[in-house]
Amino acid sequence: MAIRALCHLFNDPVLRQKAKRVPNIDSSIQQLIDDMVETMRQANGVGLAAPQVGVPLRVVVLQMPGEEPIAIINPEIVKRAGEREVTEGCLSLPGYAGEIKRSASVTVKGRDRQGKTIRIKATGLMAQTLEHELDHLNGILYIDHIERRDKLHKIEAETGEM
Ligand code: NI
Repeated sequence: MAIRALCHLFNDPVLRQKAKRVPNIDSSIQQLIDDMVETMRQANGVGLAAPQVGVPLRVVVLQMPGEEPIAIINPEIVKRAGEREVTEGCLSLPGYAGEIKRSASVTVKGRDRQGKTIRIKATGLMAQTLEHELDHLNGILYIDHIERRDKLHKIEAETGEM
């Protein structure tokens, strides 16, 4: 496993590109997943999408506090319900947090690292993180959801970013 360099919104156009589907889950994808998990942990993050380490592929990893990490390949949101206001930060835009609206619950379909089809229904922080990471695969950042300038703040402590 290796820690990869995190891309930054202002330097890396990959963050604004639409990521490509993974055609087959081979050892390079397994390696990518291992590296993404290590990179996310080192940054005290709760989620990471492959474009954030410069790889334009549809792969995301998540790790909720106190739980094992999970990886989802070619994830798709198949259902969203409800709405809630959340505070959110992104590892690709350090030093800021914003208030935006996210779904209260989402259902995501995709494949796990063995290629098995998985379906995840999530609420709370996990639903928020899934929406955030899937946005990354489409070149979208949470700041795109900010409705007014005063909803974006500078912050000092960085933890639980995505
Ligand atoms: Ni992010």
